[in-house]
Amino acid sequence: MKSAFPRPHGSRLWWFEEGRCPLYLAPMAGFTDRIFREICKELGADVMVTEFVMANKFLDPRGERDAWEIVDFTPQQRPMGVQIFGGEPDKMAEAADRIADRLEPDFIDINYGCPAPKVVNNCAGSSLLREPALLQEIAEAVVRRVSGRLPVTAKIRIGWDRDSVNALEISRRLEAAGVEAIAIHGRTKMQGYSGEADWAVINEVAESVAVPVIGNGSVRSAADVARVMRGGRVRGLMIGRAALGNPWIFREIKQALATGEELPPPTMEERWSVMVRYCEELMEHRNRTRDDKINWMRSRLKSFAREFPGSKALRRDLETVETLDGLMAIRDRHLAASDSVPVAGA
Ligand SMILES: Cc1cc2nc3c(=O)[nH]c(=O)nc-3n(C[C@H](O)[C@H](O)[C@H](O)COP(=O)(O)O)c2cc1C
Repeated sequence: MKSAFPRPHGSRLWWFEEGRCPLYLAPMAGFTDRIFREICKELGADVMVTEFVMANKFLDPRGERDAWEIVDFTPQQRPMGVQIFGGEPDKMAEAADRIADRLEPDFIDINYGCPAPKVVNNCAGSSLLREPALLQEIAEAVVRRVSGRLPVTAKIRIGWDRDSVNALEISRRLEAAGVEAIAIHGRTKMQGYSGEADWAVINEVAESVAVPVIGNGSVRSAADVARVMRGGRVRGLMIGRAALGNPWIFREIKQALATGEELPPPTMEERWSVMVRYCEELMEHRNRTRDDKINWMRSRLKSFAREFPGSKALRRDLETVETLDGLMAIRDRHLAASDSVPVAGA
């Protein structure tokens, strides 16, 4: 991308500089763990955000350990944001303060998009889109507490439902609160994760606010990028589910943005080698031995295999896989059957 957009005055988000269009890996709870993020980074993702964690967890001696584990990251993953959610300004500010002190991430990100009932019923996540004043108060409290040390960003949806799309109002409030970038998932809370994302709303907001807007939703391939960005002013792109089966999507999009050309898809061997590495490193990271069960990884492995040929049968096999050796046997069978052909349209 050329430097067509004005550089925001005094921005501390250096990854937007020089007209770059940074690619974010979307935070996805239960999937974008430290090892998966590492793989995406190597394959071209620029910016990472941890899975969301409830602010109160960092303040509770019993929940604290898990919380710190989820937001753990390596220096190679920078620029790295830690995402928190919650409905109480003082607790959100306190959690952000502790995170800033202990981890010194590149930014704190506030989640205003999660549609899950247990989050929404706690007056957090996307439910705050219906309470703009409280949403702003939370952002102000977090900014007040940590902005001397690091920037605060936010992730929102375009609104609660089709009749109450208010991303522009919300973004203006966030900007007024001192939030320095806004990622917009172009679906309403009521849409959940289905239907197409509304990039017209994302682009409208991107044109109307001074802070960088990162567009998110329905980007599944390099070819989608030109479509969603057409005429728009988004300053970055965030990729979610399409990266789960295909972390190569980042290098494919980068190539398309830089040259307009498509890269050949990865071979099956490449795909399997990344998948096996993912499994091995995640086991090691969680202090498991080679003989330990890998049942807890099944949903991650299945998401990885989604793009493979014969994925239906493969996913069925992965549903019962128990050990690393079992995974290798599945790999060998699958490679023999697919004869190492490149994956069409990956
Ligand atoms: C399994 C799953 C977990 C998610 N967890 C988070 C999360 O922790 N924080 C967040 O801001 N969004 C979360 N999201 C939303 C994604 O970041 C992203 O906004 C959404 O998937 C739309 O992008 P996509 O169409 O590219 O997938 C999650 C989505 C999925 C599918």
